[in-house]
Amino acid sequence: MMRQLSLFILLPLLFACAPERDYVPRVVDGDADRGREALARYECGVCHVIPGVADAVGKVGPALDHYSRRSYVAGKFPNEPDMLVRWIVDAPAMAPQTAMPAISMSEQDARDMAAYLYESD
Ligand code: HEC
Repeated sequence: MMRQLSLFILLPLLFACAPERDYVPRVVDGDADRGREALARYECGVCHVIPGVADAVGKVGPALDHYSRRSYVAGKFPNEPDMLVRWIVDAPAMAPQTAMPAISMSEQDARDMAAYLYESD
């Protein structure tokens, strides 16, 4: 009885915590090619490793590889396109303690960068 009960409790938890998923989220109006160019132009690579983006070897923030397979943005927000776009536009508005700065940009640039992060791996 106890054993069955713990299975009922643990199995859903296991799936809820699954660290990887196998679909690529689509960013409405996001263009991955322009995104790659924007990631370089805004110099995100000063702080992040971003595969495929020139000189993106920074170690201040986490590497932004395999992004479509992550469950969370910055460890706390569900990794969905709108959430990622909001984070890129203004991370401190979502997480006041974060070391990621707000960077002045258009929402279109953020959409393009999010598209690149999702589609590049
Ligand atoms: C001054 C350094 C710095 C710059 C510049 C910077 N970031 Fe960040 N970024 C960080 C740090 C530090 C974190 C971790 C923040 C946290 O978890 O609160 C982060 C987190 C992130 C995350 C979430 C990572 C995860 O593990 O889910 C994304 C996505 C991201 N940055 C994208 C960008 C993009 C796109 C740019 C350029 C427009 C950029 N960052 C520029 C420092 C920076």
